[in-house]
Amino acid sequence: MATKPTARPASTKNRSDRPGRAVASDRNASFTAPGLSAEDGARVIDILQSRLDALVDLSLTLKHIHWNVVGPSFIGVHLMLDPQYAGVQMMVDATAERIATLGGVPSGLPGHVVANRGWDDYGLGRADSQAHLGALDLVYRGVIKSHRESIAKTEDSDPVTQDMLIGQTGELEQYHWFVRSHLEDYAGGLSNAGTSTEIDAAKAAIRKGSTTRNVAATSRNTNGVALARAKR
Ligand SMILES: [Fe+2]
Repeated sequence: MATKPTARPASTKNRSDRPGRAVASDRNASFTAPGLSAEDGARVIDILQSRLDALVDLSLTLKHIHWNVVGPSFIGVHLMLDPQYAGVQMMVDATAERIATLGGVPSGLPGHVVANRGWDDYGLGRADSQAHLGALDLVYRGVIKSHRESIAKTEDSDPVTQDMLIGQTGELEQYHWFVRSHLEDYAGGLSNAGTSTEIDAAKAAIRKGSTTRNVAATSRNTNGVALARAKR
């Protein structure tokens, strides 16, 4: 039976060799981009790895919703999410390759993402399209907020990385608009306004249009989800 790997502290991430394995290393390379100090390079690599964790998680979440959305609006939401998944996959690749370019060791492995992320798995299983979109709104809020924070952190140290993150954030905000347009009323209000957990956002999003009490056939760890989205 496989055992769960131990999480590495963020301060040592990418800076250790794997015990007993002379053929592989998680240590940063002896070089980084020309003109970038080793300290700034290591700092930017850590920022990028946190964005990679979030983007990998987002891409899998988008497919999870694509597979589990039900209801009268199924086909519209199902098809809307495929190009979003494809776009986020491009961001995953670009972010990982930027880490490697700076001399880091990118990881998109499931164990690494789970051990290092600050949130739990997406909280809804099979659910109505409005419920999923209400919850997905919170997912995008978390990812975009953290991306914007990373843009600010790379302002002075690495404008090239910052430029990539700015481009990604523009795309993510457009995807978010697509989602929010399903939750918005003519006056500009959102049906899930004021909610901070995926389950509450899902319930609020379907409140007007359905008498269904259970928003999802399966839901997991509601309390954990409440903490999750703010840290994404
Ligand atoms: Fe599909």
